[in-house]
Amino acid sequence: MEFIEQLKLKASQNKKRIVLPEGLEERTLRAADAILGEDFAEIVLIGNADKVMESASKFGLNHVSKATIVDPDQHDKMDAYADMMVEIRKNKGLTKADALSLIKNPLYLAVMMIKAGDADGEVAGADNATGDVLRPAFQYVKTAPGISVVSGAFIMILKDKEFGENGMMVFADCAVHPNPTAEELAEIAVATGRTTQSIAGIEPKIAMLSFSTKGSAKHEMVDKVTKATELAKQLAPDLKIEGELQSDAAIIPAIGQKKAPGSEIAGQANVLVFPTLETGNITYKLVQRMAHAEAIGPVLQGMAAPINDLSRGCSVSDIVNLVAITANQAAGTV
Ligand code: ACO
Repeated sequence: MEFIEQLKLKASQNKKRIVLPEGLEERTLRAADAILGEDFAEIVLIGNADKVMESASKFGLNHVSKATIVDPDQHDKMDAYADMMVEIRKNKGLTKADALSLIKNPLYLAVMMIKAGDADGEVAGADNATGDVLRPAFQYVKTAPGISVVSGAFIMILKDKEFGENGMMVFADCAVHPNPTAEELAEIAVATGRTTQSIAGIEPKIAMLSFSTKGSAKHEMVDKVTKATELAKQLAPDLKIEGELQSDAAIIPAIGQKKAPGSEIAGQANVLVFPTLETGNITYKLVQRMAHAEAIGPVLQGMAAPINDLSRGCSVSDIVNLVAITANQAAGTV
């Protein structure tokens, strides 16, 4: 059974409430309809109920009526959520008036529903930039205990099965943190190893990428990756981590052996950790488009609750897939 079908099956056995704040966005509505039709998660749509149902009818979507629809401008819990927001951000000077205004923003409403236990996870970003999706999550849901940096991983399903684990690879950080320090990069590597184990279900072989392999170039950007590699090994001695490696040395066995002889990861990597967000984001999009790979994610790593962000270029099936992952994260089954 395909990777994503397995996730849907697992999700359907313990259905979770996933909130989609962009309830009037066409791809989101179509995805909600598909998910409710396949019946693997409960869906909460944020938007005016009349407008949501009008759009659903215009697009011929029959299952949207099974969603819970929450109107951001008028719902019972507005005041209670605003009080919670003030409590969480009072040291940042948030007033009740600020909170009552923010809570009308569906992206803030979604995270407060999760914080209050009224939803189990969120998927957004079809219509909003990543920063706008992430900021409310960082401010109100915050990071998981012991985690200082959130990052975003993509599960890449490649047509060419000679790469990674039968064509499956995990790339990170492709979504969140523009320029991590060595310490943060080490944390990202470990988080990506854990995502690879839990969601991709494969044993990670992690390559810490650079423009240098094992000292072939000298530069402070190379030093950052070398240091991050050492720190990541200390943080997670159980994970297989190698660096610094160029991308060809990471994924092509003959080049890996030549440039990093004796390494059990060089040439065999199934996890690529990029030194900056620029490199990660550019690479995943090029591989997705030019190699016609499926890019599932970004799966956010390190958040205290399952909240995942989409690219605004996403398709309906990208949204459905990310909801399947989010529902499993919420159920603790990945
Ligand atoms: N992990 C955990 N917490 C974070 C992180 C992080 N990576 N980054 C910021 N925060 C926290 C801050 O500590 C702060 O908390 P506080 O308000 O309680 O003190 C809060 O988030 C807001 O931080 P700011 O610095 O004010 O937020 P900023 O404006 O820098 O936004 C953001 C952070 C949104 C992640 C920013 O770094 C960003 O825009 N990153 C790029 C996202 C992006 O555009 N990705 C590419 C597209 S994604 C795609 O194509 C799939």
